[in-house]
Amino acid sequence: MCGIFGYIGDKNCVPILIGGLKKLEYRGYDSAGICVADGCRLTVVKKRGKIADLEGSLRLKKIIGTIGIAHTRWATHGEPNEVNAHPHTDCCGKIAIVHNGIIENYAPLKKLLEQEGHKIVSQTDSEVLAHLIEKFYAGDLEKAVIQALKIVDGAFGLAALHENEDRIVVARRGSPLIVGIGKNEMLISSDAAALLNHTKKAVYMADNEVASVTKNGYIIKHLNGGRLAAKKVDKIKWAAAQVEKGDFAHFMLKEIYEQPETIENALRGRIKHGRIKLSIELNVSTVRRIIITACGTSWHSALLGKYIIESLASIPVEVDYASEFRYRSPLIKRDDLVVAISQSGETADTLGAIREAKEKFAKTLGIINTVGSSIARDVDSGIYLHAGPEIGVASTKAFTSQVAVLILFALYLRQARGGALDKNIIGELCGVPQKIRHILENTSGIKSIAQRFKNSPNFLYLGRGVNFPVALEGALKLKEVSYIHAEGYPAAEMKHGPIALIDKKMPVVFLATEDRFLNKILSNIHEVKARGGIIIAVANGNGSKKVRRLAEHIITVPSTLKSELSPIINVIPLQLIAYYIANAKGINMDKPRNLAKSVTVE
Ligand code: M6R
Repeated sequence: MCGIFGYIGDKNCVPILIGGLKKLEYRGYDSAGICVADGCRLTVVKKRGKIADLEGSLRLKKIIGTIGIAHTRWATHGEPNEVNAHPHTDCCGKIAIVHNGIIENYAPLKKLLEQEGHKIVSQTDSEVLAHLIEKFYAGDLEKAVIQALKIVDGAFGLAALHENEDRIVVARRGSPLIVGIGKNEMLISSDAAALLNHTKKAVYMADNEVASVTKNGYIIKHLNGGRLAAKKVDKIKWAAAQVEKGDFAHFMLKEIYEQPETIENALRGRIKHGRIKLSIELNVSTVRRIIITACGTSWHSALLGKYIIESLASIPVEVDYASEFRYRSPLIKRDDLVVAISQSGETADTLGAIREAKEKFAKTLGIINTVGSSIARDVDSGIYLHAGPEIGVASTKAFTSQVAVLILFALYLRQARGGALDKNIIGELCGVPQKIRHILENTSGIKSIAQRFKNSPNFLYLGRGVNFPVALEGALKLKEVSYIHAEGYPAAEMKHGPIALIDKKMPVVFLATEDRFLNKILSNIHEVKARGGIIIAVANGNGSKKVRRLAEHIITVPSTLKSELSPIINVIPLQLIAYYIANAKGINMDKPRNLAKSVTVE
């Protein structure tokens, strides 16, 4: 949700800023801009559209400078156009800022600034920051930023330049910012992946910190008190190649194909001699209830977490959308464990939910992909996914890793409470990556289904038990990347309403793999067929013979003995259907319209 990048050093910053923005483009892609300081003045170039459009217009101008800030935007206030694009400047063009987040009190601030004679030209909330800094500027950019931010409500990741100062001043509250430490150069970024071409040394800023960054160093202070903040330099563990597409046409496809490996990474070192080893610094043996909170695809993992933990560890689990949980005064007790699931670790609602739980003294645990992210740092303890950077806006590999980690966590809970572990489930879990490889090597049937249904305006996805969240996830993937309207339902719910939608044009994807529900699913398939719906079924084992008799299209997947594991396998064809339909429609599914990878605003 908006990406910020900055450079200060000896090199010409323009190509470096563009390179950084390209790596951050998945955070927002409606407009972009850069501001370069050449020692005398600031030059701002902005463009509506993708980074490639900005790069094209920069080619026509000869801009050189060694200090610069850049931004890729996902619009919150004001339509995507050049005026609303960042950087924004003060009245004289001496100060420039880029901002990620929302300034909630921008309207009264704007009024105040206009009364004082400031000319505000955009419809954004962000521009007031440039004018506030101008208002307070008396020869020290850092001081002016601190004063300005004192009267601002809301969230910000902010980077500011002044034409007379050889530094970038950055500040954070609620939106991520990282300082990358290079050799005679420093970088600023909204996420670690964009720093990898320059450095692996990173300092993660915390909320309410401000940093003054020069080419040889940085000083970080608390915004509230001016005290120096003690910071640790972290090493980014990802490799630069992980943020490249390699031989794949799109990140989404690359990430789908990475899943055998990312699941192996999620399991690696965590199963030893039939026991589960998780370095959780929490006593889970006394936990009476687990509440899992998340958004989007991570919420679908959370729903699966309910099935998996209740079945394997016999602990009651509640699942809540983070945005609802945080604002409905949830009844939380001290012996509750609140679990946040998030790929990015930056989702504002999930972060807010965890803060709410902490205020009510619950124990908190994060299941997070991005190391050092805000949620990862806020929770009492955590389990990382180790899935590597997920760049495709539609989450794929994070989902399957989340489910794998939830299975480990459920087994860990059982073990911690003195329960015996079923060796078969551990063996089966370790065999899941090979089963996914098998699906990924046999995609011709999935491709022809995608081709056949690419123009369908609607889809239904139905499943029971653990396959219900898989149905939801299949529908979400299709909506996100192909813009086809799709709904996921528990198959038994269909007759309570959605059945009215079924006609001869409606493709209905059934999760019809072998488990205790298969016969009931077969009945649901009959109900759809009787009304002319077109059946696409994901099936396995002996059950596929029965399903084949009813379905127009069948995708066979490898079987698992343990139904808790089947979502990780069954979701793969649904990810591929969504990808290939989007591809057939000529949509860039890595940057679907209106979406941003990490939603750092409410
Ligand atoms: O980073 P998070 O897992 O917290 O993100 C949550 C959702 O924003 C995310 O899963 C979103 O729904 C994706 N676009 C799904 O593909």
